[in-house]
Amino acid sequence: MRESELIVRRISEGTVIDHIDEGMGLRVLGALGIDGGDGGLTTVALNVPSGKFKKKDIIKIEDRFLADDDTNKLAVIAPRATVNIIRNYKLAEKRRVSLPNEIERIFRCSNPDCITNSGREHIESVMDVIDREVLALKCRYCGRILDVSGIGRAPAAAG
Ligand SMILES: Nc1ncnc2c1ncn2[C@@H]1O[C@H](COP(=O)(O)OP(=O)(O)OP(=O)(O)O)[C@@H](O)[C@H]1O
Ligand SMILES: [Mg+2]
Ligand SMILES: [Zn+2]
Repeated sequence: MRESELIVRRISEGTVIDHIDEGMGLRVLGALGIDGGDGGLTTVALNVPSGKFKKKDIIKIEDRFLADDDTNKLAVIAPRATVNIIRNYKLAEKRRVSLPNEIERIFRCSNPDCITNSGREHIESVMDVIDREVLALKCRYCGRILDVSGIGRAPAAAG
């Protein structure tokens, strides 16, 4: 470890989400519902130098392991992230996130008339990933293209 690196407390069990694209760390926190409320040690590092010219965000979460839905959200917000599972202070497993061809449930269709937004029908959303580069999702039910650029962003203040 170089002298310029700050030593942050290690976690004994949990998850390190590394190589999050610069600027997306807080959105990942929001999308995974991480707010420190469960009392576990959570460290967030933003704009960490990574390579010669790049920067990245890193999130370390004690006692939390990501469910499939979490991993899918992560794949949408931070497609270059790696998920490192820590057990007994050591790296036990390293995974790249990968975008599935379809995403069920976690994104809501933006079309208010879509059947998936009808309170009575209880139909879960299904989004087809139609462009992996610009990340376009298309509702399987009504065809609306979902703008994912705002996912995980804090909602704009009303008024
Ligand atoms: N016990 C721990 N507590 C907190 N963070 C840890 C712990 N063990 C490893 N990490 C972090 O997990 C990430 C992955 O660790 P690893 O040793 O694989 O680093 P790496 O070789 O730089 O990985 P990569 O090639 O993905 O960049 C790093 O950000 C590292 O700091
Ligand atoms: Mg590294
Ligand atoms: Zn729809």
